[in-house]
Amino acid sequence: GLGAIDIPVYIHVVLPNSNDVTDKQISDQISVLNSDFNSTNTNLLPSGATNFINDATITDIHFSLAGTFRHNDNTSSWGTNDAVKAAYPPITPETHLNIWVCNIGGGILGYAQFPGGKLSTDGVVILYSSLPGGSSAPYNLGRTATHEIGHYLNLRHIWGDGRCRQDDFVTDTPSSDRSNYGCPPYPTVHCSSTDMTMNYMDYTDDGCMYMFTDGQRNRMRAIFASGGARAAM
Ligand code: ARG
Ligand code: ZN
Ligand code: CA
Repeated sequence: GLGAIDIPVYIHVVLPNSNDVTDKQISDQISVLNSDFNSTNTNLLPSGATNFINDATITDIHFSLAGTFRHNDNTSSWGTNDAVKAAYPPITPETHLNIWVCNIGGGILGYAQFPGGKLSTDGVVILYSSLPGGSSAPYNLGRTATHEIGHYLNLRHIWGDGRCRQDDFVTDTPSSDRSNYGCPPYPTVHCSSTDMTMNYMDYTDDGCMYMFTDGQRNRMRAIFASGGARAAM
């Protein structure tokens, strides 16, 4: 196989006072990514959740901080139309994951571009206050970046964004017809099976998500194989 995959990361902090997000928060965010993608996070199973623990996978995808760029910019909210990327373009997106840390507005925590899109908009945008230690509790443990990078690496939402038969193209994630929020009790059943509410690709609280599956790992890693959408990295 491919072995360990290392993704260098450029962070663009775009805020009226870009120092409001500290270097410590950025390094903590990178640590959260490495722990989440390698199944070493310390969040606990919901009580009684015995079947999913063994499905938590190690992706062997790793992240390293390649540079932080700070931009003091008075724009109050950037929306989801890639304006922040036009103002502060990605740097070598062929080889680097670019993350814009800014105020998106409208209660949006983050958004991402799937593989195979335009290089000029490649990367993920996350709400500045979602970084570890930020003010967006219960979304302030850094898992908005984990979720959005899941999309950047080709993952769909775990419920497939549709009804029971709508697939997320991953066989070992159970079917569901909806997103879950908060910290759901176990079992939470939809479409006749127990939802994997603790998957990073659901919409639950940061403290209540802890896993990708083997199938998600394989789908992410496939884009780095020869001919894949991110093979150049
Ligand atoms: N795109 C989703 C949103 O903006 C991100 C959800 C992230 N979930 C989380 N627990 N951090 O709502
Ligand atoms: Zn999403
Ligand atoms: Ca599935």
